[in-house]
Amino acid sequence: MILVTGVSGGLGGLILKGLSGRDVVAGTRSGDGVTARRIDFDEPETLAEGFKDIDVLVFVSAGYAEDDVVIARHDAVADAAARAGVRHVIYTSLAGSGDFMSIALPHRWTEARLADGPFDVTILRNGLYAEIPAGLAAMGAGPAADTGVFAAPLGSGRASVVAREDLADVAVRVAAETQRDLAANHRSRHAGKTYELEGVTTIGGKDIAEILAEALGRQVEYQSVSLSETRAALTGLGLEPYQINHTLSLFSNINAGTLKGHDTDLATLLGTGPRPVRETIAQAISTP
Ligand SMILES: NC(=O)c1ccc[n+]([C@@H]2O[C@H](COP(=O)([O-])OP(=O)(O)OC[C@H]3O[C@@H](n4cnc5c(N)ncnc54)[C@H](OP(=O)(O)O)[C@@H]3O)[C@@H](O)[C@H]2O)c1
Repeated sequence: MILVTGVSGGLGGLILKGLSGRDVVAGTRSGDGVTARRIDFDEPETLAEGFKDIDVLVFVSAGYAEDDVVIARHDAVADAAARAGVRHVIYTSLAGSGDFMSIALPHRWTEARLADGPFDVTILRNGLYAEIPAGLAAMGAGPAADTGVFAAPLGSGRASVVAREDLADVAVRVAAETQRDLAANHRSRHAGKTYELEGVTTIGGKDIAEILAEALGRQVEYQSVSLSETRAALTGLGLEPYQINHTLSLFSNINAGTLKGHDTDLATLLGTGPRPVRETIAQAISTP
């Protein structure tokens, strides 16, 4: 049986949907034990019961916390999966281009921790979601409509982005093929593999301004905002301190141009061209 964690989230929900009709069960912090299993990485006691009879664990990272918390969560998952006799773990990690981002550390730690486990592992190194520039575009639409300016802390950098649906489709394929291979008493064809799933389209401030201009039917000019101004603005929003860190680190990396992926397994694993991300961004503008 396959278990997908974090199914109330965007990625886990799409993966579960894509696996429907197969021998699959949902895992979520709010699981009632009937329609979904209760899986809370912060409460390791839920994992012993939650991973029972699971052959293939689709382990969706739970990265919204300080590093020590994320590492403890992911350590608990690796430990419980080993004890429960899970045969194959598929972990949703971070693309190689993200190595300089602050969120990279717990992802790379988790990859190494899983590699030490008694199960087979597939690492899906997910690229940056297109929802991130889409969110910036949605936030910038009002001011751009009023002033003709789209301001964001991206410098002249661009980042490779990918539709979350594409990442979910890859996870579904890897999980389904793994289940099939295990049922035939083989190791998964994906065992020991690390797939880079960088987007094939790069997006920067000028691109978002162009998309806004098209959607708003007026000229929109991109203006870069400094990281110090951005830090000051974020500080007033009541965010958790780690959120400020990670957000600035993301912008810093885009400024520096490090988030441009070079090699990607995306098209090979999708078996088709990736979804066009400019459309995702344009839709975010028109969706209130
Ligand atoms: N590549 C990127 O651009 C990017 C961007 C943002 C995030 N991420 C990472 O990718 C992950 C999945 O992305 P997403 O879009 O699905 O994020 P999301 O929509 O925010 O969902 C995250 C899910 O993680 C689960 N979760 C949180 N704390 C947990 C815990 N203690 N134990 C077990 N599960 C927990 C929750 O699901 P349940 O309530 O159902 O348990 C939550 O809904 C994120 O958690 C983050 O680590 C990647």
